Amino acid sequence: MAFYYPEESYTFSEYLLVPGYSSSDCRPENVDLKTPLVKFKKGEEPRISLNIPMTSAIMQAVSGEKMAVALAQEGGISFIYGSQSVEDEAAMIARVKSFKAGFVVSDVNLTPDLNLADVLELRAQSGHSTMPVTHDGTPNGKLLGIVTSRDYRVSRLDKNTKVSEIMTPFEKLIYGEDGISLSEANDLIWEHKLNQLPIIDKDQNLVSLVFRKDYDTHKNNPREILDEKKRYIVGAGINTRDYAERVPALIEAGADVLCIDSSEGFSEWQKLTLDWIREHYGDSVMVGAGNVVDAEGFRFLAEAGADFIKIGIGGGSICITREQKGIGRGQASAVQDVAKARDEYFEETGVYIPICSDGGIVYDYHMTLALAMGADFLMLGRYFARFDESPSNRVSVNGTYMKEYWGEGSARARNWQRYDLGGNKNKLSFVEGVDSYVPYAGSMHDGVDVSLAKIKSTMCNCGALTIEELQQKAKLTRVSATSIVEGGAHDVLLKDKTEHFENSFRS
Ligand code: IMP
Repeated sequence: MAFYYPEESYTFSEYLLVPGYSSSDCRPENVDLKTPLVKFKKGEEPRISLNIPMTSAIMQAVSGEKMAVALAQEGGISFIYGSQSVEDEAAMIARVKSFKAGFVVSDVNLTPDLNLADVLELRAQSGHSTMPVTHDGTPNGKLLGIVTSRDYRVSRLDKNTKVSEIMTPFEKLIYGEDGISLSEANDLIWEHKLNQLPIIDKDQNLVSLVFRKDYDTHKNNPREILDEKKRYIVGAGINTRDYAERVPALIEAGADVLCIDSSEGFSEWQKLTLDWIREHYGDSVMVGAGNVVDAEGFRFLAEAGADFIKIGIGGGSICITREQKGIGRGQASAVQDVAKARDEYFEETGVYIPICSDGGIVYDYHMTLALAMGADFLMLGRYFARFDESPSNRVSVNGTYMKEYWGEGSARARNWQRYDLGGNKNKLSFVEGVDSYVPYAGSMHDGVDVSLAKIKSTMCNCGALTIEELQQKAKLTRVSATSIVEGGAHDVLLKDKTEHFENSFRS
C-alpha cells in the first residue's frame, strides 16, 4: 500500500516567526550571516563559507559571468548554468576567475579607419564615451589610441573624419602595464588627472581599462569572497550525463565548487555522477547534489558523498513540474524534514552537510523563514533575474521595464534537458517550466542590501545574531488563511499603491 505522509505539506507563506527576547546587543550591525557552503567534520571549518546565505540559480536567465562576479562581491556565490556547451561553460568560469575588480575588458572598440559617424553611432548604442582604438577592433588587439568625447566637436568636424585623425594616439597616452595593482593604477589616474587608464601587455596589446569613476565602488566590498589567489569564488552546474567531459573542463577552468543540477535528485544517476567524481578527484572536488524533498532523499545523497544537498521540487516561480507530473512537496515542509535529517546525520556521523532551500522565495521574509527552519543557504532564481547583472534582456512591457526569465525546463532552454533523471539523451516530450517576465529591479547591490537589512532585523527580533542561533531560537507558527489577509495592509485605502507593492515585495 502507498505511504501517506501524516501531514499536508506547507509553504513559507503559511508560517510566521514569533519574536523571542532581544537583548540590547541584538542590533542589525551585530548580525553575522556567515554560513557553510560545503560539508565539514565537527570542530573543523568548511572549505568554503559564504558571507551571505544566497546563491544564484543554475539557470541561463540568472547565472552568467556578470552575476557571478557581482554576487561574489556581495559575499554569495553563483552557479554558472550547465545548459550550454562544455566549452562555453568552462570559458565563462575562466572569465570569472580572471576577472580583476576595477579592470574592465573594453566591450566597445574602434579600428583607425572607422569615421566620426561610426563613433557617434557606437556611442549612442553603448552609452560609452571612451573607446579604445585597436588594430583589429578587438578588446585585446594592439592599442593604437583612444577616442573620448573630448577628442571631437560634432558641430565642427566632418562626420567622415577618420578615427585615426580624431584619436589621442598611443604615443601620447599614459598607460599601465599588465600586472599593475588596482591601487597603483588609481595612483596613475590621480597623478595624471586622467578619466581612464588603459592597461597593456608587453606587446602593446590592450588588456583592460581602469576608470576613475569606479574608484569608490572598488574600494568597498567588505563581504566579497575570494580564493587563496584573491580571485572570485564561482560555482558551476553539471548534469548526470556528460560529467566525464564537463567536470574536467570546469575544474581546469577554475570552478571552486560544482552542483549537479536536476529537478529530482533521489536517483542512481546522481550516485553514479558522485562516484565518478570521487574516483577521479577524491575529495578535492566539492560537489552539491539534489533536489530532494524528504529525509530519505537527503540520506541517499549524503551517503553517496554530496558536499551539500539542495531541497525543492515544484516550488520555483517558473516551475510547472507539479502541474505536469504531480510530484513535489510544499517547500517549508520539505526544508523542515530535510533539516531534521541533516541534524540526525550530524549527530550520528559528526559530519555536517549544509542544505540549500532552492526556489519559491517570493518575499524577503521567506528567506528568513527558510533559514529559521534549518536551511544553511538559499538558491534564488527569480530574485536575481530581476537585476542588471542577470544575463537576460531588459524589455519594456506596456511602459514598465521587465527582465526576461525562463525555466531550465521551458521550451526555450530545454534542448539542454535538465528534466530527465539522467542517462537518457532523447528529447523530452513535455515542458516543466515557463518563459516569463519579472519586474526589473536595478542594481543587485541595492536590492541585496534591502533584503539583508530585513533578514537581520527579523533575526534581531528573534534574539539571534547568527544563522545557527536563529535555527536554535526560532519559534514558528502556522497561520490560518484568514490571518494571512490580516498580514498585509487591509481595510484602508492606500494612497500610494506602488510604494506598498515595493515594500511588500515580492523581492
Ligand atoms: P525561483 O527562485 O522561485 O525562481 O526558483 C528557481 C529554481 O527553480 C531553480 O533554482 C531550480 O531549482 C528551479 N527551476 C529552474 N527552472 C525550472 C523549470 O523549468 N521547471 C521547474 N523548476 C525549475
